[in-house]
Amino acid sequence: MTWLVTGGAGYIGAHVVRALQEAGLPPVVLDDLSSGRREFIPDGVPFVDGTILDRDLVARTIVEHDVDGVIHVAGFKYAGVSVQRPLHTYEQNVEGTRVVLAAMADAGVDKIVFSSSAAVFGTPDVALVTEDTPKAPASPYGESKLIGEWLIRDQGVATAASENPLRHTSLRYFNVVGSGDESVYDVSPHNLFPIVFEKLIAGETPTINGDDYDTPDGTNVRDYVHVADLAAAHVVAARRLAAGETLAPAYNLGSNNGLSVREIMDAMARVTGVDFTPAIGPRRAGDPDRIVATGELAAQDLDWDNRYTVDEMVRSGWDARRAAAA
Ligand SMILES: NC(=O)c1ccc[n+]([C@@H]2O[C@H](COP(=O)([O-])OP(=O)(O)OC[C@H]3O[C@@H](n4cnc5c(N)ncnc54)[C@H](O)[C@@H]3O)[C@@H](O)[C@H]2O)c1
Repeated sequence: MTWLVTGGAGYIGAHVVRALQEAGLPPVVLDDLSSGRREFIPDGVPFVDGTILDRDLVARTIVEHDVDGVIHVAGFKYAGVSVQRPLHTYEQNVEGTRVVLAAMADAGVDKIVFSSSAAVFGTPDVALVTEDTPKAPASPYGESKLIGEWLIRDQGVATAASENPLRHTSLRYFNVVGSGDESVYDVSPHNLFPIVFEKLIAGETPTINGDDYDTPDGTNVRDYVHVADLAAAHVVAARRLAAGETLAPAYNLGSNNGLSVREIMDAMARVTGVDFTPAIGPRRAGDPDRIVATGELAAQDLDWDNRYTVDEMVRSGWDARRAAAA
């Protein structure tokens, strides 16, 4: 029951790999190391160094490692950069997903769990995002993830009456933070946690981008989820698909609970022991006041749970980042 994890050398993929191992489901990783790190892959896990854009390589990997299902995590995740690099973003996230599906069809593999994103919603004007909230992506990145969901859904429809109907689900991540293993951390230069950690390590003051939003303390409210909880939901999804069950086409892995940037900064100071007062900078274009999702459907179907406090999220991320700096 081997699962191919594309992007398994990245922050989230490396956690999914560990969760699969712990659940007794052997993983194989295919990753081009464009943003991932070889050392994030645990010893003993087979690693194929290459791109998901190479259909022969993906198909060969599936056959050589006797793959039963795919957890398709690989992707280009920088929403801001995607505005400047739409062609690259669509190539990696849309063409990449199409090639993975084509290679799966070649090899007769019929299970896929896809890494989607809250970005498919754009800037929703609702207190709590549900799976039915209208999709209005505000960047090429969000668009590419929504098209990825559509590709998978459509391939499911096209194969429904065949010998190998595609069983699938897309998991929409919100703000993924923390670390479930000290040797893996988020290296993104664009996400709040790593940005603040880098500033604190450099002895600099972190900045809040705007404190005049329509929220209780004026700073953006977001939905933070711990990467270990996220990884666990992938294992449940994989198991359910392998058991022949049908899952919803998409789940929002949200926490039902918004935290403001200021609350995160307070937790950063509390946990790291670095006494700082964040600087207040200008707003960033396109940042909505608040995005928080209910994870109810995922709780029902995928045992989705938020087991970590904000301090634990910060603590685990900080410890992993500092271990890497040591
Ligand atoms: N981190 C978040 O908060 C977040 C939120 C929503 C969605 N996502 C999605 O989750 C996935 C993983 O995100 P992450 O935070 O771990 O990012 P990451 O950049 O750490 O991981 C992406 C991995 O995919 C690999 N990769 C990229 N293009 C590839 C290609 N063409 N062929 C093979 N491998 C390739 C990279 O080398 C890297 O190891 C992405 O698809 C991202 O869009 C992440």
